Amino acid sequence: MQLFTFFAIFGLALAETGIDGWLRYAPLPSSISWPSVPKHIVVLNTTKTSPVYTAGLELQRGIQSILGQDCHLSNGKPDESIIVGTLDAYVATYGNLTQAVDLKEDGYWLSTENNVVQIIGQNERGALYGAVEYLSMLAQANFSSVAYASNPDAPIRWVNQWDNLDGSIERGYGGASIFFANGTIVNDLTRVAEYARLLASVGINAIVINNVNANASILSPQNIDGVGRIADTMRPYGVQIGLSLYFASPTSGVQGQANLTTFDPLDSSVIAWWGNVTDQIYERIPDMAGYLVKANSEGQPGPITYNRTLSQGANLFAKALQPHGGRVLFRAFVYNQLNESDWRADRANAAVDFFKPLDGQFDDNVVVQIKYGPIDFQVREPASPLFANLFHTNTAIELEVTQEYLGQQTHLVYLPPLWDTVLGFDMRIDNETSLVRDIIAGRTFNRSSGGYAAVVNVGTNQTWLGSHLSMSNFYAYGRLAWNPAEDTTKIHEDWTRLTFGLDQNVVDTITNMAIESWPAYENYSGNLGIQTLTDILYTHFGPDPQSQDNNGWGQWTRADHTTIGMDRTVSNGTGYAGTYPPEIAAMYENIEMTPDNLLLWFHHVNYTQKLKSGKTVIQHFYDAHYAGADTAQTFAPQWQSLEGKIDSQRFDEQLYRLKYQAGHSLVWRDAIVDFYHNISGIADEHGRVGNHPYRIEAEDMTLNGYKTYAVSPFETASNYHAVVTSDNSTTGSVSTTLHFKSGTYDVGVNFYDMYGGVSKYEMLINNKTIATWAGDSEDYLGHTPSIYLDGHSARRTTFTDIAVKEGDILEIVGTPNGIEPAPLDYVVFLPKGVID
Ligand code: GCU
Repeated sequence: MQLFTFFAIFGLALAETGIDGWLRYAPLPSSISWPSVPKHIVVLNTTKTSPVYTAGLELQRGIQSILGQDCHLSNGKPDESIIVGTLDAYVATYGNLTQAVDLKEDGYWLSTENNVVQIIGQNERGALYGAVEYLSMLAQANFSSVAYASNPDAPIRWVNQWDNLDGSIERGYGGASIFFANGTIVNDLTRVAEYARLLASVGINAIVINNVNANASILSPQNIDGVGRIADTMRPYGVQIGLSLYFASPTSGVQGQANLTTFDPLDSSVIAWWGNVTDQIYERIPDMAGYLVKANSEGQPGPITYNRTLSQGANLFAKALQPHGGRVLFRAFVYNQLNESDWRADRANAAVDFFKPLDGQFDDNVVVQIKYGPIDFQVREPASPLFANLFHTNTAIELEVTQEYLGQQTHLVYLPPLWDTVLGFDMRIDNETSLVRDIIAGRTFNRSSGGYAAVVNVGTNQTWLGSHLSMSNFYAYGRLAWNPAEDTTKIHEDWTRLTFGLDQNVVDTITNMAIESWPAYENYSGNLGIQTLTDILYTHFGPDPQSQDNNGWGQWTRADHTTIGMDRTVSNGTGYAGTYPPEIAAMYENIEMTPDNLLLWFHHVNYTQKLKSGKTVIQHFYDAHYAGADTAQTFAPQWQSLEGKIDSQRFDEQLYRLKYQAGHSLVWRDAIVDFYHNISGIADEHGRVGNHPYRIEAEDMTLNGYKTYAVSPFETASNYHAVVTSDNSTTGSVSTTLHFKSGTYDVGVNFYDMYGGVSKYEMLINNKTIATWAGDSEDYLGHTPSIYLDGHSARRTTFTDIAVKEGDILEIVGTPNGIEPAPLDYVVFLPKGVID
């Protein structure tokens, strides 16, 4: 019996690493019967490096794997074949298609009618996109007869990687770079080809491979050649390469390039320098997509260094690229440090302040790349008003697939519903419908270009992003960049079928978790538009609300003892609301009209301000944080209900993360509610905040070789204190007599899992070991690690069904390791159904 049939019959799940993402081409279950599919694939370009040829190979591989059917590549008869090629090649070979099709750049025609499958691209990569679409249908057991043209909504569908030449990735949580190591391009580009395959399969046509905080040495002749090898590897998938540039490269002493004394964009030697470097790049990579530039932003040099405008800076590169047909994506993420004592200061105003006066001054091959909101990838932001302020400039939206502020791939957060709030937002320019997605596509203002960029940051991890479920964000990004009007739930269902199989229960369960995930995360990390209340000064991962204020970064909450929120009105605040077109400005100016979920973004109010729901702001904070954490507790059980339906490797790896999230969502909840309870002095109507009847604080136990430690920020420890071993080499223990009613409990232990040590723990009841664990998340989770006891390292591990009698002695023995002094916060004995 063939392996194919064996596994199909028994539905056995082989261990899978996730490396194939949604392109697994899993065999269809034998319970499904399907009509015959042509056995010949006619490839209308047999050049091995052409995307059309890649499409032929992909069809062969996919059909073999999904249906167990061998297909032959041929250039033979069109009858009973799958024909794949460009429209021009098709017409040259067979004459016109029987019906007129309207194809835009990168679009395709797919027809499965009359025993022939036509996959006809407007260009080579369009043909590849059509082939993958056809395979996606087969993999989902969709054998319906179709005949349609599909065109992308916008020409720019790029991804950005924030990879550094040393192999690290800024805000990357899936391992080291697949592109770079030791200052240069890696030799083995196998993963690069696999990445290109994933990108092409969701219609991505270009990738910027290096960090926006760029290093000039990418421009050395040796590295240009290395980038050329990457381009050669990705070209068969129709993925073009872009480079991030360091604005001051001409003065950086780049090996093999001239070294100047200025990088002034209007200086003729600088213009010649960039022209020359650009020519060298295009000589090696004639189809290079272009450049991405972060200038005068967060310490980066730029044209303003020489009192030149940002448009003069952008046009410097545009002119060098123009003869080659390349584009400059110029980032709008430009802002200065501000002083919070100035009530009218507002970082959210920066992009409009800097770029609106320059509208019309950018060359045609410049595209201004704008983050979705005016601050920085927060859990909720209003759509950036800059989209509605540039009428004569090409624009693209910048999204983040990598979950920098959104749980760093250790929390499940399906992002498309968030993106949808911006892409579908109606700016009401001239009081007419003007959706952000239409503006960036170039339709609203009749622009020549525009579209999408997303920071993806895959790494060498076999899962690409660090977490299997996070791959839905990558997949959905491509789908939305192709068609932003698509339903985000339906996209997720497709992704689930392709990634985990066709079982309806699997599809429904994982999709349900995904749809609940962003609202849950918003609820426990920062609601009412206050932003993700994370540590903005350190790692952007765990809770640290006070880090937002009293510094120059401008992500302020302005929380004091009685009030909270940014007054961004024109009448009394920073004026930000007035940067939107009049209808929108009027909505945000007026507290009654402002939606609750952005209330604190636009208004500075008392904690006792009533929301539209009738609750006060502070009570909403409490309730939302409890509700969000409650939802996060349900993810692991929902996932566990699928045991046996998902291969064990992916099942176990994801379960570990979901259990981690369950614990860390409680850390989030408690930190935020304790912080605002503390600062406002207002009690929780439901009596939950600060009231934990099932907990035993470690510092209240008998300490042996342990000492009490005041945690900072204070709210990231229950009762503000934890315990640590007296020194870093001696085992210690904490113990206490249990006074809970005899019965069975789930026992949670909150501890700190720091980077730089793997402490070991043993929990005993009446001298009998009931659990052991280790502070070893650095080996399993890829989030930015912390070397402190704080909201990033705080976590919970839970042991279920522990039998306890009143009067039992609980003891936890902790063995420190490295810098980690076996820190413990508290133990909680949870009767069934209680979350605390
Ligand atoms: C965020 C992020 C930085 C990044 C910056 C950018 O602030 O934390 O790592 O460099 O955005 O987008 O340029």
